[in-house]
Amino acid sequence: MNPVHVSQRVIRLFFLPALLGAQCASSLAQPLPIDVLHWWTSAGERLAVEQLHTQLLLNGVRWKDVAIPGGGGMAAVKVLKSRVLMGDPPDTAQLIGATLKDWDDVGLVMPLTAVASRQQWAQTVFPTVLNLITYKGVVIAAPLGIHRINTLLYNRHVFVRLGLLPPTNWEEFAVVAQKLSGQGIKPLAWSDEAWQIATVFEAVLLGEVGPKRYRELIVNRKSSAWLSPDIDKALERLRWLRTISGEVPRERPWTESAREITSETAAMFIMGDWAKGELMAWGASPERDFGCVAVPGTRQMHLYSVDTLAMLRNARKRTATQEKLAEVVTTAQSQLAYNRIKGSVPARNDIDPASLDPCARDSWTAFAARDAALVPSLAHRMAADEATKDAVAQVLWRFLINPQMQVNEAKRRLALAVRSP
Ligand code: GAL
Repeated sequence: MNPVHVSQRVIRLFFLPALLGAQCASSLAQPLPIDVLHWWTSAGERLAVEQLHTQLLLNGVRWKDVAIPGGGGMAAVKVLKSRVLMGDPPDTAQLIGATLKDWDDVGLVMPLTAVASRQQWAQTVFPTVLNLITYKGVVIAAPLGIHRINTLLYNRHVFVRLGLLPPTNWEEFAVVAQKLSGQGIKPLAWSDEAWQIATVFEAVLLGEVGPKRYRELIVNRKSSAWLSPDIDKALERLRWLRTISGEVPRERPWTESAREITSETAAMFIMGDWAKGELMAWGASPERDFGCVAVPGTRQMHLYSVDTLAMLRNARKRTATQEKLAEVVTTAQSQLAYNRIKGSVPARNDIDPASLDPCARDSWTAFAARDAALVPSLAHRMAADEATKDAVAQVLWRFLINPQMQVNEAKRRLALAVRSP
């Protein structure tokens, strides 16, 4: 284990109880447990959660972990549904994007407007994020951090050894890919899991059609928009990316692909920047061992997914503690500590970007820019509900695993899928 993590563990084990003891004597009795349902189970995600846990304990709130494995939250969402149906919602859940509104419509989500106004989120949280967590004029979630989906990670050692530069467009990407293949290194780590395919696709689509068209397709979801010829390129590119490694693709967790980057089996990986957090958790450094650039054609654009925690109504009625949790996780201190590990960037506009690693600095700066091209991720629930996201991901998956499916047929199916109820 990396020494930083060892020392973090030591601090937690030995010093935190002492610190807490001091606080307990003054203001806190027993830290109250709040069960939090989420899908952060990889090494980097676990460390990020532990960081939140630490910040909360210092403030008298105990994070009771309900972690459901499964990248992209497919399983966690099912568990949440069944707990709600059984009448036992957790106190807090990782509810993000459009799904927040769906759960609010059924009366599950607690308002956080009072916390937001006490903590001045209107001044400190990015307007795009605030907008995402506000529904019918009420704030309904606490923002944790902003992930950049259009991230291409590459192994710096491999690139230096072969004299390669990170590609900024698809022509450069093709040249780099060919050189890597020639040296027996997989150009791009790949998985056939539907949510991962959708993650790569939306980044490719953004590069291909630009932010304005992306919004038309993904945010407004006009069916007819999906039938035009500019979609062809994005679909063909997706097929090509899947095949350039020359091996039979299979479904596998995103962490396996990340592992290929550190072992130098593969040189590049297109994934949200939680993959950066993972590489860091394994001891790799974004300055020394790997780099991040925007997916070709998407420089200056930010395809975002914002992680948020919603406080849920249940029989335990721990409103004050739930509010406290929302307050603590959104302070500048917690946001910096958590996001540094998670791979994302603070949802706040008042931090110093110089304190961030180079990938995070790029992401935060692109997000904060006055004329920023910010677009929401469909694959990560920012732009549409669970059913629509799943329907689109299924079409893309079918299109890839069935080489007989024509591009026009895929477009026709996508045009229907984006209108899923
Ligand atoms: C995303 C989530 C991230 C990360 C990722 C991989 O949907 O926003 O925080 O956990 O899934 O599971």
